[in-house]
Formats: sequence, C-alpha cells, structure tokens
Amino acid sequence: MPAESKSAEPLRQGAASASLPTRAYFDPAQNAWVLSRYKDVLDALREPALRQEGPEKAPPQVRNDVSAALSQAMLSEWEKEIEPLADRIIASMPRDRPVELVSEVIRPWSLAVTSVVLGLDASGARQLAALAPRLFANDAGVQTPLRSRRSFRGMLQGVRRRIVRVRLDRLLRSAHVPGVQSLFLGLTQTIPEFLANAWLALLENPSQLARLRAEPDLIPKAIEELLRYSGPVHTLVRRADQTVELAGVRVAEGERVMLKMAPANRDSDHFNAPDSLDFTRRSAGHLALGGGPHSCVGALLVRMSAICATRAFVEKMAGAKLIEPAGWRRGSTLASPCSLRVLRPG
Ligand code: HEM
Repeated sequence: MPAESKSAEPLRQGAASASLPTRAYFDPAQNAWVLSRYKDVLDALREPALRQEGPEKAPPQVRNDVSAALSQAMLSEWEKEIEPLADRIIASMPRDRPVELVSEVIRPWSLAVTSVVLGLDASGARQLAALAPRLFANDAGVQTPLRSRRSFRGMLQGVRRRIVRVRLDRLLRSAHVPGVQSLFLGLTQTIPEFLANAWLALLENPSQLARLRAEPDLIPKAIEELLRYSGPVHTLVRRADQTVELAGVRVAEGERVMLKMAPANRDSDHFNAPDSLDFTRRSAGHLALGGGPHSCVGALLVRMSAICATRAFVEKMAGAKLIEPAGWRRGSTLASPCSLRVLRPG
C-alpha cells in the first residue's frame, strides 16, 4: 500500500451520489475495472470468482481466530468497561482552549478500549499508552492497513524505533487472545478512523447532533446511518480467478476489480436522498463493513464500541464547533480526518 497522502475532503468528493458512473468501466490508470453502484459492488463482494487482494486480505485462519475472540459473552463483559471510558476522557477536556478530537479523545479512547479487549493488566495498559506517540507518529507516513499479518508488519515498520516494535509485539503476544493482531489493528486504526468520520459528520450536522442528544435511544440507528454515510473504507480490491460477467461487463481471468464502497453507500437507486444524514432511514444493508463471505468479523465490536463512545460525545459535545476545516488523510483503502479541532460549549 502506498504511503498516505493528505488531501481535502476526499470522502465527500468520492462519495457524492451525483458523480456516480452509471455502469462499470475500465480505468487504464488503475489497470482495473471500477464498480461503484450498490448492486454491482454487492454482487462483486458475493462473487466466488473474485478473490481478495491488497492489504485488506486476511488469511482464512484470522477470520476464525477473531470470531473466536469476539463471543457475545465477551462483548457484554467488555461493554460494561468500555461504556464509561469516553465519558471520562471527554469530561477531562478543557473548555478554555480548542480540543483536537483525534489525538486528545479518539486515539486515547481507542487505546483504553484495546486494553480492555486484549485483557491487558494495568502495567500492560501503561506500556501501550507509552507507545502511543510512536504508534500514531507521523500521520502522513504511517500506513493504515486493515488486517493481514503482512499489513501488520507494515504498520509496525511505521513505528519508527525497533525497540518500540519489539515492545509492542511482546505486549500483544502476552495478551494470549486469538487474532490479536487483527483485533489490535481494528481497535487502534479502523474504529478510530470511523469515529473521526462519524463525529465530523455530526459536527457538520448540528441539528442531527442536537436530535441525538434529545433522543439518545436513536444512537444505535445513528451509528448504522453514520457507517453508511461516512464509513472509512472507500475502496476494496479483487482479482478474477476466472472470467466472469459482472455489472454488465466481462471481467477476464487475472483482471483487477476496484469496489468503490463509499459511492456504493450513496447510490440513489438503493438509498433515498443518499447524501443526507437521516437517522430514521433504513440504513441496514450498507456496505461499510463489507458483505458476502469476507464481511467484517469485528462488526459487533465496532457497533458496540462506537455506540458507547458516541453516546458520550453526543452528551458532552453537543454545541461543540469546528474551529478550522478538518485535516484529511487518505490511504488506498481508508480515508478519515486526522485532525478535528473544536471548541466545547462553555
Ligand atoms: C469501523 C471499523 C471497521 C470497519 C469500517 C471495517 C470494515 C471492514 C470491511 C469493509 C471488511 C471487508 C474486507 C473485504 O471484503 O475484503 C472487513 C473485514 C474484516 N474485518 Fe473489519 N472493519 C472494522 C473494524 C474491525 C475490527 C475492530 C476488527 C477486529 C476485531 C475487524 C476484523 C476484520 C477481519 C478479520 C476481516 C476479514 C474478513 C475476511 O477476510 O474474511 N474489523 N472489515
């Protein structure tokens, strides 16, 4: 995966429903077919002749390991510990200066959640927190792979000093949790990237933020809609193992196919008024967590933790205002704000 580049508001440019092509096309610059209609992308995700390619590819064992770690009983246990974490962090934020939500709230929260899920003791949690400046150093250079062992090593290479990599590796191994590297990446990279996207969407839609404060029971539905509206995974890549008819085109054996997830989630043939954030719509069926045989194994953990954090955000940050445009980072798979400077209401 190439290093990330910073660019202005790439998600919205990529996702705007008005810019959707009507059918699949071949992009010579990418040397790949590009699919961005909801139905085409869903068909491709379910197509057995297409195999995963790129940093999002997880070895089959990882799927089993992560599922084994995420039992319903464990999720219920973790929820009790995760519930108060965001509340505590946000409550400690000052009101007399701007707060940068990504570095001051979202990432510390994600490390605290990681400690809970990996069962780190107090010393492990302290060690992880001490590694944070290295883990999140150099936004522009650190890659944001999703899951595979190879990608994990890629991320570790982004952690500059070797001694830090060794400590992190030892810490994770000592957690004795199946699929620990995938869990770690999901918790410290993908979930924070989703929260940054989601909270930006709320800050930009103050009436919706106020509505959630008045009707907190809507938050689970809101998380589903925020996944649809601003999920962080914008592109997945597949390669054809055999020639296949897809989206009205013939994809020859060996050809690549790019699945444009963000535009598919804004397809007006599937979602009414797709560019508006509407917590009462039926967002189920969105593709933010994939679909078909490789859909996200961490989906329940994503939903539970995002609901907990967003509950605290809605309660304590209603009325917060962005004081400058969000900074963005974009990788080949994920895009998210890397800085969200806000002023809390007094
Ligand atoms: C908001 C956060 C997350 C998002 C948006 C997300 C999104 C996705 C997507 C789109 C896929 C499909 C990849 C494909 O079809 O090629 C996927 C797969 C996967 N996700 Fe997540 N994910 C998130 C968090 C997590 C977490 C926390 C974990 C670990 C607990 C996790 C573990 C996995 C695994 C292991 C797969 C691979 C499944 C397979 O290839 O069979 N994800 N995720």
